[in-house]
Amino acid sequence: MGFDQYHEPPEELPAATRTFARLCASLTEEAEAIGWYEQRIAVEKDPEALAIMRDAQGEEFKHFAMDLEFLLRRTPPWREVARGILFQAGDIVEHGEEAEAEAFEGDGGSGAGGAYDDGSLGIGSMRGENR
Ligand SMILES: [Fe+2]
Repeated sequence: MGFDQYHEPPEELPAATRTFARLCASLTEEAEAIGWYEQRIAVEKDPEALAIMRDAQGEEFKHFAMDLEFLLRRTPPWREVARGILFQAGDIVEHGEEAEAEAFEGDGGSGAGGAYDDGSLGIGSMRGENR
């Protein structure tokens, strides 16, 4: 395992940012694994092998969802955007545009950087909220 999830010197990064980067890397790996299993399942003919691969892909769904939930809990602006898009019927792009506008309305154009200006990732602001 390398350290390529860091794009800045790790020793200069706060512990919370290093953890955040690890989970982002993990989320990417779980998504890749889901895609790889999807391809293997599409071509496999042996039913026993298929059953194993489907079971394994299900594990990756779980891992991906846990990683995502962790990241969303730590990043309220991301969570707000996700809330407007995930599990909504209708046009995905339309929901995305609306969710982005709502989440960043009046933020002075700081954008979807993920962290708050104080570098806290908004962890404190999530405490006590039952979203
Ligand atoms: Fe996994």
